[in-house]
Amino acid sequence: YGTQKVNENGHLQIGGVDTMELVKNYGTPLYVYDVQLIRERARSFKHTFEKLGVRSQVAYASKAFSSIAMLNLAEEEGLSLDVVSGGELYTALAAQFPTKKIHFHGNNKSREELLMAIEHKIGCVVVDNFYELDLLTGLCSEKDCKMDILLRITPGIEAHTHDYILTGQEDSKFGFDLQNGQAEEALKLSLESDHVNLLGVHCHIGSQIFETTGFVLAAHKIIDKLHDWEKKYSYFPSVLNLGGGFGIRYTEEDVPLAPSDYVEKIVIEVKRHTESLDLPMPEIWIEPGRSLVGEAGTTLYSIGSSKQVPDVRKYLAVDGGMSDNIRPALYEAKYEAALANRPNDAVEEYVSIAGKCCESGDMLIWDLPLPKTNNDDILAVFCTGAYGYSMSNNYNRIPRPPVVFVENGEAQLVIRRETYEDIIRHDLPYNVNVQS
Ligand code: LLP
Repeated sequence: YGTQKVNENGHLQIGGVDTMELVKNYGTPLYVYDVQLIRERARSFKHTFEKLGVRSQVAYASKAFSSIAMLNLAEEEGLSLDVVSGGELYTALAAQFPTKKIHFHGNNKSREELLMAIEHKIGCVVVDNFYELDLLTGLCSEKDCKMDILLRITPGIEAHTHDYILTGQEDSKFGFDLQNGQAEEALKLSLESDHVNLLGVHCHIGSQIFETTGFVLAAHKIIDKLHDWEKKYSYFPSVLNLGGGFGIRYTEEDVPLAPSDYVEKIVIEVKRHTESLDLPMPEIWIEPGRSLVGEAGTTLYSIGSSKQVPDVRKYLAVDGGMSDNIRPALYEAKYEAALANRPNDAVEEYVSIAGKCCESGDMLIWDLPLPKTNNDDILAVFCTGAYGYSMSNNYNRIPRPPVVFVENGEAQLVIRRETYEDIIRHDLPYNVNVQS
């Protein structure tokens, strides 16, 4: 992946930095991000739109990995930002991310969260449901302002990575249904309101998707409806946001397209369809998360205990697990790994990589081919950059690992390792004699 290579010491190197140096300086477990690869991904999305002459915004879906440094990088690369909670918005504000380029998602934004969005004059709110439309217009009326919005539409297409299910009415907690009149009703209410300005529509069909059929199907369904609405309401949106979901390669079984290929294929089809209906080409927005940061992340672990179950398998435990990467336990997600200190050594056995949490389900990788290991070995698990740190937790009161950015031979700590003090920071003693 990216700038990874085996250096002259026979070690895995990332961003020009020897991973053994990183382990020495920052300890394990450690998340390492290849900054150049993130930049390349961002540029490739943006250049593709430029090449096609289509106005666009590429918004980083910060749920994949949100931190001040990451948002600094997103800003530097000219990305917009998708946030889904007050916490993600707060991080963006702390990173001084340009507020006009922030889009606020979520199916249950609170009054406080919407007020935060209004107060900081963010770019737009992606309105998910009638409750929110009502709440937002009410708040904007109180504050005597007008908020730019997109309406999140559920197009009735569900992507299960490879196949797409077309349902009359998708059973989803998100968005206004296109089929049953909800989307049209929301459009009417938005157009009538003095307190929202309808920039356009949004849809997101799923995540870790390997081809473009589903995106194109969804876009076509929406554009057909926009065509009807144009005649009925003389309204045509200036923005069509097609969400995120572009797949990446976790293991050999995954065969994603290049980021630029997703954009190119989808946009060409959208252009063709709008032209065939004699409609203007809307500005296209996308919201990649995983495909910007997933492959750029590597987690380094120290190898600890092992257990041989005779005639069955060998378990090898590392100093992290489901607390820093819950995806295998939650989704049966697959990963590849190698020994960072000697990646070229010959495979001698198959081992299953266990985490250190008190739960049998805390397994990171089953049946991984490795050389025979010892306790000086460092395991590098690849492709952990998306939904790794962001879904990390303190189960078993394990402190979260730090995050290091590497680029051009330099390493920079961007999130500190949690301490045991951090773990008990919010705890208060229980004293039956004190009522407060
Ligand atoms: N836009 C919207 C509205 C979304 O809901 C999501 C992801 C994205 C963009 C970014 O999707 P991406 O490009 O990263 O696929 N925790 C799961 C993934 C959940 C995705 C939720 N929504 C995982 O670890 O696989």
